[in-house]
Amino acid sequence: MESIKKIKNILVTGAAGFVGSSMSEKQLEHGHCVHGIDNLITGSKENISRLLKYPNFRFDHIDINDGNAVLRAQNTKYDEVYHFACPTGVPNIAIYGEEMMRTCSQGTENILNVAKLHNATLVYTSSAEVYGDPKEFPQVENYHGNVNPVGERSTYEEGKRFGEMLVKLYVEKYHLKAKIVRIFNSYGPNMSKLDTRLIPNTLTHIKAGQPLTIFGNGTQTRTHLYISDLLTGLEIVMKTGESASPYNVGGNTQLSINQLVRALSDVIGRELPVEYKEHFIEDHGGREPDVSKLMQLGWRIQTELSTGLAAMCNEFGIPIKEAVNEKSYNPQQWPNRPIHELPV
Ligand SMILES: NC(=O)c1ccc[n+]([C@@H]2O[C@H](COP(=O)([O-])OP(=O)(O)OC[C@H]3O[C@@H](n4cnc5c(N)ncnc54)[C@H](O)[C@@H]3O)[C@@H](O)[C@H]2O)c1
Repeated sequence: MESIKKIKNILVTGAAGFVGSSMSEKQLEHGHCVHGIDNLITGSKENISRLLKYPNFRFDHIDINDGNAVLRAQNTKYDEVYHFACPTGVPNIAIYGEEMMRTCSQGTENILNVAKLHNATLVYTSSAEVYGDPKEFPQVENYHGNVNPVGERSTYEEGKRFGEMLVKLYVEKYHLKAKIVRIFNSYGPNMSKLDTRLIPNTLTHIKAGQPLTIFGNGTQTRTHLYISDLLTGLEIVMKTGESASPYNVGGNTQLSINQLVRALSDVIGRELPVEYKEHFIEDHGGREPDVSKLMQLGWRIQTELSTGLAAMCNEFGIPIKEAVNEKSYNPQQWPNRPIHELPV
């Protein structure tokens, strides 16, 4: 007998943001009902307009730190909650530090209470920032990080750590099914054009014909994960992940900022002028996720960096080389290696 697919009711916080809108769209395409909430502090109205084309999407412009507003907005019994809401972007730490701290703490508790009320399964999106400036490579989930509680990035870093603690508390005390995913740098279409994170910010400069600004000497490393692979990871954890046991999700190739610029110029097919400036905030030397725990649940990376960067250039209206082929950017050239061994 043909099985009938269950239509799920899903609450998505931060639905106007990059990841929240992408996940909402994916779930709507699956035929599920999505209730998106957002206060638009770093999200975009365009992302919501795109989602409102789906009849199963409903949006409420609310701040999740307002517990009463969150309770009033509930319109159905939720099966799942994807909790993405949090102001993002390193330059925003100086502007929205208080909002970051409050959204990670009060806001997250409000959303945990909603999940508890509905007996819904929740995924909390934490961050690689919980590892601070790590001393161990790669970062395995049981590494506790190297974080300064009174540093320039503390409102976000300690906020995310506090959020993880809240999730664990609700799992242990109220038997909530709540999972934690630590996201490492991710990118893809639907990032706001004002997004100050590395790849969109770099593309904005290229589009404007301006030299790229690199803060520091460009040897600091990051990994980069394409949005479709991130969404799959989040869905897997929602379905089969263990509650209150963090999962890293991130790219498999550690690149310095200088190497990323080289990869981008390969995709675009021309040299990109670069200006180096002193960093405006204390920066971290490197990040490298150990993703074996998520891989044990069946997760695999499907999108190469060159393919993802080409998609981003298209999104920003930047012409790319006719054939972005595997030769033009070969991740095997720069396999995962400790930072000090990476070519600059
Ligand atoms: N994209 C990444 O590379 C990355 C890396 C690490 C962690 N994360 C985490 O994943 C989540 C989603 O990130 P993103 O890249 O989509 O960021 P984003 O800034 O594009 O989206 C976050 C959304 O949350 C909304 N928001 C913030 N505070 C809110 C509040 N109090 N009430 C209601 N809405 C609020 C913002 O307006 C925005 O639309 C965030 O929690 C972020 O910390 C993302």
